[in-house]
Amino acid sequence: MPVLPALVRPSVVARVTLLNLVANGLIVVTGGAVRLTGSGLGCPTWPQCTDGSITPTPELAGHGLIEFGNRLLTFALVVAAVATVAAVFASVRRDLRRLAVLSLLGIPAQALLGGVTVLTGLNPWTVAAHFLLSMALVALATVLWLRSREPGVGRLLVRRPLAALGVGIAATVAAVLVLGTVVTGSGPHSGDPGAGRTGFDPELVSQLHADVVFLLVGLTSALLVGLYATDAPGRARRAARDLLVVELAQGVVGYLQYFTGLPALLVLAHMAGAVLITVSAARLVWAARGPASELPVDGDTGVLRTAGHTAGLRTAPRPGAVPGPR
Ligand code: HEM
Repeated sequence: MPVLPALVRPSVVARVTLLNLVANGLIVVTGGAVRLTGSGLGCPTWPQCTDGSITPTPELAGHGLIEFGNRLLTFALVVAAVATVAAVFASVRRDLRRLAVLSLLGIPAQALLGGVTVLTGLNPWTVAAHFLLSMALVALATVLWLRSREPGVGRLLVRRPLAALGVGIAATVAAVLVLGTVVTGSGPHSGDPGAGRTGFDPELVSQLHADVVFLLVGLTSALLVGLYATDAPGRARRAARDLLVVELAQGVVGYLQYFTGLPALLVLAHMAGAVLITVSAARLVWAARGPASELPVDGDTGVLRTAGHTAGLRTAPRPGAVPGPR
């Protein structure tokens, strides 16, 4: 029994969690603008902007404003995350509380790491960690939003090996993201002319990054075929198809920027693409589970299929099984 009546409707929780996701995605792109305009040390210290001033001084000019603008956006992110925690705790969705609190706690962690990034003079490994933590928060915000739109976690909707392949694909996406940050740390866009580099050969790490992307595209194509072959629910097929489309588009941008000397706008588009891929991979893992009503209905019997059934393993319908909407 909840102590307080649920004050917030599920539709409101869904809207607020979507806002939280958008804020988490946007700050990655504005952080990219800081790096690509060479404004990483636009505010040379942290938590103040300069020694003795919390805001940029006129001498810091445009770079100071760009970096300070990114710091200010953190406050918009805090508002979205606090609203998310408040909405979830005031709703009936106790199961979402942990995710909402984690999403909020990610912000002070990220602010600290951002501070360490500035204080280490944009060390490429701390820049990478800062970016990767943001990606983890984007994935978390995606799952929180998607789950808020349904009453609970639900049941397994696809065959177990395909669900495992989905998790493997998410892990491969994580590997591509990590390698991408190593390419960045070895390349020219350090965020400040004085910042250190990893010392790796940029061409070699770019090649490795692209090789794992080929593996990723192969695994996602295999999953898509598997999902169609087993007549898996539409949500799983759509999630795999959308991920494949974003991967291919991101691959094209990756090669374009590589062969055109890394122009800032293309690199920014590549960062936005990395956010979309993270969202799509989180959605893929989420889509493997859901309400039984998502399972296809057998055309002959009008009975809901089970995840096993979708693979052509004809199991007897449960007594009293009810056909659900498609
Ligand atoms: C699924 C496809 C891909 C994903 C998810 C991805 C992701 C990423 C990420 C996360 C970064 C680091 C961004 C940062 O630290 O700010 C990056 C950088 C980079 N990626 Fe990719 N990438 C993909 C495909 C490719 C391909 C096919 C190439 C072709 C060679 C490529 C070339 C590069 C280059 C050159 C950089 C460094 C850009 C810079 O100097 O800032 N990427 N990628």
